[in-house]
Amino acid sequence: MKYLPLFTLFCSFILLLITELSFAADMITHKQFIREGDKLVSSSRSFELGFFSPGNSNSRYLGIWYKISPETVVWVANRKDPIPDRLGALTISDNGSLVLINKNKSIILSSNSSKVPENPVAQLLDSGNLVLRDSNDMSPESYIWQSFDYPSDTLLEGMKLGWNLKTGFERRLTPWKSEDDPSPGESSLRLDIRGVPQLVIGTPSRKWARSGPWNGLQFGGIPLMNNKIFKPILVQKEDELYYAWEPFDDTVITRLSLNSSGHMQRHVWDERIREWSIVFSWPYDKCDNYAQCGANAYCRTSKTLECICLKGFESKSQDEWDTPDTVKCVKKSPIESDCQNGEGFQKLSRMKLPDVNWSNQNMNTKECYAECLKNCSCRAYAALIEGGGSSGCMMWFTDLVDMKQCSKRFTWGQDIFIRVPASELAKELNKKKRIKIFVSVSTVCGILILGFVFWNVWKKTKNRGNTFISSCSFFVDAMKFIWQPLYFG
Ligand SMILES: *[C@@H]1O[C@H](CO)[C@@H](O)[C@H](O)[C@H]1NC(C)=O
Ligand SMILES: *[C@@H]1O[C@H](CO)[C@@H](O)[C@H](O)[C@H]1NC(C)=O
Ligand SMILES: *[C@@H]1O[C@H](CO)[C@@H](O)[C@H](O)[C@H]1NC(C)=O
Ligand SMILES: *[C@@H]1O[C@H](CO)[C@@H](O)[C@H](O)[C@H]1NC(C)=O
Ligand SMILES: *[C@@H]1O[C@H](CO)[C@@H](O)[C@H](O)[C@H]1NC(C)=O
Ligand SMILES: *[C@@H]1O[C@H](CO)[C@@H](O)[C@H](O)[C@H]1NC(C)=O
Repeated sequence: MKYLPLFTLFCSFILLLITELSFAADMITHKQFIREGDKLVSSSRSFELGFFSPGNSNSRYLGIWYKISPETVVWVANRKDPIPDRLGALTISDNGSLVLINKNKSIILSSNSSKVPENPVAQLLDSGNLVLRDSNDMSPESYIWQSFDYPSDTLLEGMKLGWNLKTGFERRLTPWKSEDDPSPGESSLRLDIRGVPQLVIGTPSRKWARSGPWNGLQFGGIPLMNNKIFKPILVQKEDELYYAWEPFDDTVITRLSLNSSGHMQRHVWDERIREWSIVFSWPYDKCDNYAQCGANAYCRTSKTLECICLKGFESKSQDEWDTPDTVKCVKKSPIESDCQNGEGFQKLSRMKLPDVNWSNQNMNTKECYAECLKNCSCRAYAALIEGGGSSGCMMWFTDLVDMKQCSKRFTWGQDIFIRVPASELAKELNKKKRIKIFVSVSTVCGILILGFVFWNVWKKTKNRGNTFISSCSFFVDAMKFIWQPLYFG
């Protein structure tokens, strides 16, 4: 009798071990359940799936998290439908759908697919993807359902951010409302494909920030996107257009996420301190706020924020208390017609390019210049594809909005050529001309004075004879002549 408590303890320990073992599986089949306390563990133990309560919340959610960092939840199934008790379960229903049910057996969430698998299994893959597939068919194309199609706030390697062009289905990141509440916040991170693809953070009614357009390698204007950690990818196919990324080094554990206040962040796992470190966060500074400087200006942060009007525009304060970032840039001479002889372009370097609507892959930069110059409503042009010889063409026909000059440290800006009215160019030419004339006149005067000096001295020395010594003394005399006024004058 004495040993009964010990024996019970031992038994429960064994029982625990068995249940733990029995559910260290990475898949369930028809009529199997994942209930409270059960977990799916991916085959090489990178990810786990199970029920959890975030932060201070008591509600239960079904989620996927890193095994090394269980508090880092990368996907939540029932974001909008928390389970109030511990009686939820994930299972495969009779008709082959993956369903999340509550204690009343009513369905909270269902993988709705028209395809009915013969022998369905739900498996947590090592990528962090929960897939529903036929047990005999492993190919990704025939997944019946996958969690990667319904991102939460995290973009893992292999996930897509973007569009199915045939069905119009969009994958985007939406942040958690707060640390305690994984329900989708108002904002999102999306791939905007109306013009040249670009990343946009904002709400349906308002853009908060946008990247520059994709330039073949990278989205412009995002600090440190180009780095040693991951390679950004833009896939453009007939029926798909999406952004994804892959790590340069497979041993590095990294993820992209959107935090509750709408910041896109790149995290890298630091094994030494067993914590995530953030390698970049975007929006980065105030200049990243969408259209911070209004139209026809660009934003620059050196010590403070500056709005700089484009050539041909001048700042107009609305009232005297305006700060540098609330001035408006208005056209200097509204009477002047847009298209005149003698127009040209102002080159701005290291720029995040404005929202763009017109592009052509087949034009080269010269053709781009010529076409823009010819068309009176063309406000600016730039190369579409950077890196290893620019090519392609982008043109702007509306006000230029949301330009930022990137700091020298972050080189991912681009050159843009902005149309400058003839009058502005003439002014500049005049200035240049005046400088040129001043320089020429000064040079001529200088030569004349020197000539006069040498001629005077030479006349004096000639009277003394023509030896080598005298030619030296000629030099000395010349110096004396020049310095005399300084010594005695
Ligand atoms: C379950 O059913 C009962 C009664 O049918 C209802 O009162 C309760 O709200 C239901 N619970 C859930 C979690 O749907
Ligand atoms: C299931 O389909 C309905 C309508 O077809 C859709 O509104 C819902 O989002 C889908 N759910 C999932 C999890 O795909
Ligand atoms: C499977 O059954 C559930 C209810 O049990 C239903 O909501 C869902 O639409 C069904 N799916 C298919 C493909 O029939
Ligand atoms: C999101 O990230 C930004 C930048 O790192 C930070 O300033 C902000 O506090 C974060 N928001 C939350 C809710 O953690
Ligand atoms: C681009 O085109 C769309 C539709 O044609 C228009 O709504 C939008 O204002 C344009 N944007 C710019 C920056 O020209
Ligand atoms: C200028 O370009 C726009 C947009 O491509 C076009 O609609 C317009 O006809 C062009 N104008 C001229 C004069 O070529």
